[in-house]
Amino acid sequence: MEVITRPSVELAVDLVARLLADRIAANPSIVLGLATGRTMERVYKRLVDSGTSFKRCRSFNLDEYVGLPESDIHSYRHYMQTHLFSKVDIDEANTHIPDGNAVDLNDAAERYENLISLSGGIEVQLLGIGAAGHIGFNEPLSSIMSRTRAKSLTPTTRAQNAEMFGGDINNVPKRALTMGVGTILDARELILLATGSAKASIVAKAVEGPITSMVSASAIQLHPNCKVIVDEAAAKELQGREYYDFVFENEPEWSSYQ
Ligand code: F6R
Repeated sequence: MEVITRPSVELAVDLVARLLADRIAANPSIVLGLATGRTMERVYKRLVDSGTSFKRCRSFNLDEYVGLPESDIHSYRHYMQTHLFSKVDIDEANTHIPDGNAVDLNDAAERYENLISLSGGIEVQLLGIGAAGHIGFNEPLSSIMSRTRAKSLTPTTRAQNAEMFGGDINNVPKRALTMGVGTILDARELILLATGSAKASIVAKAVEGPITSMVSASAIQLHPNCKVIVDEAAAKELQGREYYDFVFENEPEWSSYQ
């Protein structure tokens, strides 16, 4: 794992957007794993502004609420249409989001896993991190080997996301269909972005704490190709900061991103 701290939110977002644009330029038919949430809105804006072509890309989103129609403004399909898909040249037939409205959620989950496999697997997976330590909607006690399935959301997550539902936690769906931790770890590269002081403690637990299903994001420590990109505020509880900065300043792969 590499942890890169940028001096501001804008520069952290900029780095993630550049990494993604570079991956797409190197492999125009790349299979992307995408995330939603407030943190990612800026990444998608940067990517749209960069003029990156998504023409041949395929994408798989991490998660979707259970029981929200695709047309609902709070659905993650709606989020992706608004922030990315309608603004770039991606073929919408190549965009995939778990079917949170399926009558049989187990079947929808299995189909999603099969589709990812048939596509050849995810090349680069974008991740945010929730206050509950989740990646995707893998709430505490999600098995590190878990696959796509329905998951009940914690009160912490529902409170975190209430802002998008008119500030009322009762409006936040109780469940989501999410890629599992195991599904995420199968991606060939992980890029996790966290910004803001509210994320500082959970970022430190995920990066430097024990690997535990109580903090699903700690499973990224098992991944051989994982980058965590944070701003100063989200980095402030990291113990090993000096060394992480040294790596970023000295490893040749980062020379063009300084
Ligand atoms: C969203 C997702 C979540 C978010 C996380 C952070 O698809 O998978 O794990 O990335 O909840 O959300 P924000 O960015 O709103 O703090």
